[in-house]
Parts: sequence; C-alpha cells; structure tokens
Amino acid sequence: MNSELTTPKPRLLITGVPPDAVIERAQQLFDLTIWREDAAIGDALLKNVAGMDALIVMPGDKLNAETMGALPDSIKVLGTYSVGTDHVDLQAASQRGLKVFHTPDVLTQAVADLTLFLIIAAARDTSTVEKTLREKRWGRWAPKSMLGRSLQGLRLGIFGMGRIGQAVADRARPFGLSIHYHNRSQLPAEKSQGAQFHSTLDSLVAHSDILCICAPATAQLRGSINAARLALLPDQAMVVNVARGDLVDEEAFFAHAATGRLGGVAMDVYRNEPHIDPRWLALERTTLLPHIGSATAEVRTAMGMLVLDGVAAHFGLAEGGKCANP
Ligand code: DGY
Repeated sequence: MNSELTTPKPRLLITGVPPDAVIERAQQLFDLTIWREDAAIGDALLKNVAGMDALIVMPGDKLNAETMGALPDSIKVLGTYSVGTDHVDLQAASQRGLKVFHTPDVLTQAVADLTLFLIIAAARDTSTVEKTLREKRWGRWAPKSMLGRSLQGLRLGIFGMGRIGQAVADRARPFGLSIHYHNRSQLPAEKSQGAQFHSTLDSLVAHSDILCICAPATAQLRGSINAARLALLPDQAMVVNVARGDLVDEEAFFAHAATGRLGGVAMDVYRNEPHIDPRWLALERTTLLPHIGSATAEVRTAMGMLVLDGVAAHFGLAEGGKCANP
C-alpha cells in the first residue's frame, strides 16, 4: 500500500511507563511517545505535548486550569492513569471541549485488598514489630509484648462509601468489624448490607474505632479530616487512608498524634507525594506505604487498557472507556 495514502496515527504522549502489554496496544493505535524519566514530567509537560493529539497523565501530574489553558490546540482528548481525578481540573477540560478518561472499577478490588492489609497493620502495629525482628531486638515470647488490638467487635468507619468503600466493607464484615459509613447520600439496602449510615462526617468520626478514608479528594472534601474532627475520634482510634492525602489536614493530624490519643495509623497516601512531610516518618505505631493501592501487575495493565479504550474511542479506533467529565 502507498504509505502516503494511509491515515497517520494520532500522536499520544503518556507521561509514565506502562506495562508492556499496554505499550504494545498503544503503539498499535497511536504514534506513541512515552516520558521515561524517573522524575515526574512537571514543567516539561508543555514542551513535550507540543504537536500531540492526545495526552495521558499520571496521578502526580497536575493538569490545573492554567496548564489546561496552555495545552496546544492539537490536543483533542485527555486521559489519566488513575480513577482519581483530583489532579485534573475537569471543569477547565470541559470548557476547552476536552473529555478526560480515567480508570474506575478495574482497581476497586486491589485497593480494597490493600485497605484490609492496612487495617490489620494499624491494629497489630506490624511495622514496629517487624522492625524489632529485623533489628534483632526480638526477645522471648511474653504475654504482654507486642500487643495490638483485636478487630472483632470494633467499629470500622468508612468515609466515602463508593465502589472502594463498599469493597472494603465486604472484606471487613467477616473479620467481625461493625460497619459505619458517611457518604454524600445514604446507600440502598442492597449496597449498604446493614452498614450504619451517618449523615454527618462528625458523627461517623465520633463512632469510628478505625476511621478508613476512601472518599475522593473533591474541592469540598479537601482537608475535611481536620483538628475539630480528629478531636471527635474515640481515644485510641486508628486512622487508615487509601484515598488521597489532601483529605487530611496534616498539621492537625501530627498535632493529634502528639497527644497520644491515636491507637494506630496506616497510610498509603499523603500530601505532596512523593516528597512527604518528614514528620510521617517519626510517627509511632504507624505503617507507611508509598501509594500502592492499585499496584498489581494485573490491575496496572487493566488500568492502561481502560484509559487507552477511552482515548482511542475518541478517534474511532476503539470502543468504551470511562469518561470523568461526560
Ligand atoms: C487512583 O487510581 O486514583 C489511584 O490512587 C492510583 O493508584
């Protein structure tokens, strides 16, 4: 075939390196460029996106109104390699007529799995006790050493009872946790499965032996785990966050931790990732993971395929995709 007569593939920039199967498919569909540096693309985004038809960003890449406004006119569609869209100004995208595709559903179960791990890690302080072993400070078995809390009978307060919150609840019930939740609206019985609805976040926090943050970091919810709410937590309550660091007022959190009233902390997300506040590292009874909720080989491949579906569908090259600003 005369190559001059074939339609050129749309040009796609992906700002991080996906699994091989995703790269292969992206190359079939697009004229693909991948930002392969270790550091996030940051200010180099605008230079690298010049002449591109489509852009898929990572959760750490900010597409705020200013960046959105500075994108070249050649860009016709956007994607993010995440379910969360807090780093993308969806309104600014819509105003420019750009759809933003994201990756709901495919990561729900993996994130919920990790959340259960974090709940147990918080209750049994596995980070500290593993350190004891690794540092060869493990003494003889003693009835009072390395004690945690039993989950049976504790109240798990889920802030944000969307797909992930519900999947966490499903996993937590067999552990004997009683499920409480706060959400924008009360869920129908078939979804809440007996979980107790709290119409205010204050009420949920006050009834949580383990507060588990699963809500999206919308503008309204940012900083909602603040000093006043932390003060409502029962004594020795635990806090787990698998959603976004921006939901927590970190100054208030460190101040609350210093009172000794927290019974355990397990975090997968922070403000200003990956350059997190060093005070996290000094907290006792705390498990810290580097934002790995969706980090399984299967899920990261599925996420890549899903965001490609949406971006490719825009050019009539595939079907499906999940649009965050329909
Ligand atoms: C998401 O998809 O929003 C996750 O936080 C990234 O793992």
